[in-house]
Amino acid sequence: MKFVVLTLFKEMFDAFVSTSIIKRAIDKDIVSIDVLDIRDFTKDKHKRVDFPPYGGGSGMIMSAQPLGDAIDYAVLSLEKYKKEIKIIYMSPRGKVLNYNISKNISKSNYNYIIICGHYEGIDERIIEEYNVEEISIGDYVLTGGELACQVLMDSVIRLIPGVISQESLSEESHTNGLLEYPQYTKPYEFKGRKVPDILLSGHHKMIADYRKKESIRITQKHRPDLINNKIIPKKEGK
Ligand code: ADE
Repeated sequence: MKFVVLTLFKEMFDAFVSTSIIKRAIDKDIVSIDVLDIRDFTKDKHKRVDFPPYGGGSGMIMSAQPLGDAIDYAVLSLEKYKKEIKIIYMSPRGKVLNYNISKNISKSNYNYIIICGHYEGIDERIIEEYNVEEISIGDYVLTGGELACQVLMDSVIRLIPGVISQESLSEESHTNGLLEYPQYTKPYEFKGRKVPDILLSGHHKMIADYRKKESIRITQKHRPDLINNKIIPKKEGK
């Protein structure tokens, strides 16, 4: 899967692409992440990429010209791979990211262009012209889309087969609509607190039952909405 990121702050992606699991996925050629500077595409003689909004109001709007040219360039660079291309804009106005959205993207046969906005947003005509999908990472406003873009790519890439073991994915929070049970490792005793005996029993069925109960307890405590609204992820192939 190929991602082309359009941003005004390329340097914010340096650590993301060169660390840990994302770096491994890139090194294994499972994904590629190209980061383009939108400013390189401006035709403005002062290299400006943003202007005040028509109709008045506070802040600046990212102009359609550099962004449109950056998208056209990214589309051209991806066309040779003969896969459909989807364009996403990270925006507090978008639909809110969850496990199902990340899973669907990870299973999709598309390549992705992701726009990171800044200032008060982007010219609406970009969204209309390029059939852009808007995704938010939560009901709050960030100073720019870069962190949101990394959250989206991270949550997607780790679900692509071959990136991390299926076993690690199968028990983690949200995969089965519940939050993950508590985990323990060495030492056996920490500040007088011991690991629950059942986990040392070697009895797999009892451990599985205990963990299921703990999952439900933690979900009721932290996210009762998941149980009440039954936000259960779709099963594979459905
Ligand atoms: N850009 C600014 N705020 C955002 C949010 N909540 N989600 C995605 N992109 C954003």
